[in-house]
Amino acid sequence: MRNTLIIEGGAPLNGQVRVSGAKNAALVLVVASILADGETILDNVPRISDMEYLLQILNDIGVKTRWQDDSSLSICPPDGELKTRTSYELAKRLRASNLLLGAMLGRQGEAVVSLPGGCDIGSRPMDLHIKGVQALGAEVKLEHGYIYAHAKKPGGSRVYLDFPSVGATENIIMMAARTPGQSVIENAAKEPEIVDLANFLNSMGARIRGAGTDIIKIEGVEELRAGRYAIIPDRIEAGTYMIAAAISGGEILVENVIPTHLHPVVAKLQETGTIVEENDRGIIVRGTGRVKPVDIKTLPYPGFPTDMQSQMMALLSMAEGSSVIVENVFENRFQSVDELKRMGANIKVEGHTAVVEGVNRLHGARVRATDLRAGASLVLAALAADGCTEIEEAGHIFRGYENIETKLTSLGAKLK
Ligand code: EPZ
Repeated sequence: MRNTLIIEGGAPLNGQVRVSGAKNAALVLVVASILADGETILDNVPRISDMEYLLQILNDIGVKTRWQDDSSLSICPPDGELKTRTSYELAKRLRASNLLLGAMLGRQGEAVVSLPGGCDIGSRPMDLHIKGVQALGAEVKLEHGYIYAHAKKPGGSRVYLDFPSVGATENIIMMAARTPGQSVIENAAKEPEIVDLANFLNSMGARIRGAGTDIIKIEGVEELRAGRYAIIPDRIEAGTYMIAAAISGGEILVENVIPTHLHPVVAKLQETGTIVEENDRGIIVRGTGRVKPVDIKTLPYPGFPTDMQSQMMALLSMAEGSSVIVENVFENRFQSVDELKRMGANIKVEGHTAVVEGVNRLHGARVRATDLRAGASLVLAALAADGCTEIEEAGHIFRGYENIETKLTSLGAKLK
């Protein structure tokens, strides 16, 4: 992975940027493609390293994949069975490989999935995923860091999710789509990526109702017909560039967005005094100098997205007052704090709460990206900081932001 990103701060970012396909929809749709026989073509697939890792895992278990052009991907599972066991070496680099649990159970009633190692934002347990597939008839045992799941007689059932987990909802949908009988998920996640998964599977002949609400009903079907489908735009990438305009005092038109997916982010940005307008080409964001402090509570959709929390923290670190940020979704998602403090930010963390005292200016420093969105927050801070910032381990950023160097440079950022 390319390692260090060097950014000379101080230049306002102006112009327009086109948002790529949503990472968190593309990953699950590529996995869901193994539920259909024949060649699936997905359009608007972002070429990011998370996607490259996933394709290596799919190739390893016997699925042929091929990029048709910049963002169209062909996925072709074999006629026979797939290899049931994902390789630990490959799976440990990508937590989303855990989505093979539901897809493999739906396709061939068996899955051996590596328990994802912990990552920087939390322990990332799988208890709700396991509760879900067990309800649909899978026997599950955990051994040697693997989940062994086998469904001899799968049957539709009702599952209540203690927490509206995105991944658990997706795994249950994928297993239920090809499990005889009706399944109901209560307290399901409502993220737009869940709706995209349901629309994709329904376009192949699945019978899923209620995606986007907290009750999702699935009638299992025998088989699914492969087809062609375009992935929704990435609301988190869009939000990140919107904050780039606000933090640098520039004006950016963010194109190829679905405005409703961004309402929580738009509302919060407007509260900071940033000008945000929607038009038929996308969302225009204009920075108006020092922002007002605001309080943030991250919540499952449609609440403020946890994936935008670090980016907002960078913006609020130069607000004219103090902001309170409460991270309610992950237990350890304040990794960017120590790095932002190296740039002069004044932030105090108590458990799930961070109090951000706005300072006049941040200054460039050598910092380290610890995870994808913390890395994004350092890029944003570097754009506004005085002087030069060196972001080490920038590979984390390339996991989820397609062509970020080109996009930022075209907006006037000074990158090396
Ligand atoms: C998805 O992760 C996204 N990743 C994350 O985006 C996103 O932050 C998260 O949803 C929340 O929106 C993908 O879609 C690939 P969860 P996921 O299961 O499915 C707890 C990014 O930056 N939990 O909704 O892993 C868990 O510990 C990434 O793009 C259980 O307790 O998220 C966490 O605290 C980061 N038991 C909370 O739920 C379980 O069985 C949310 O996790 C599962 C989850």
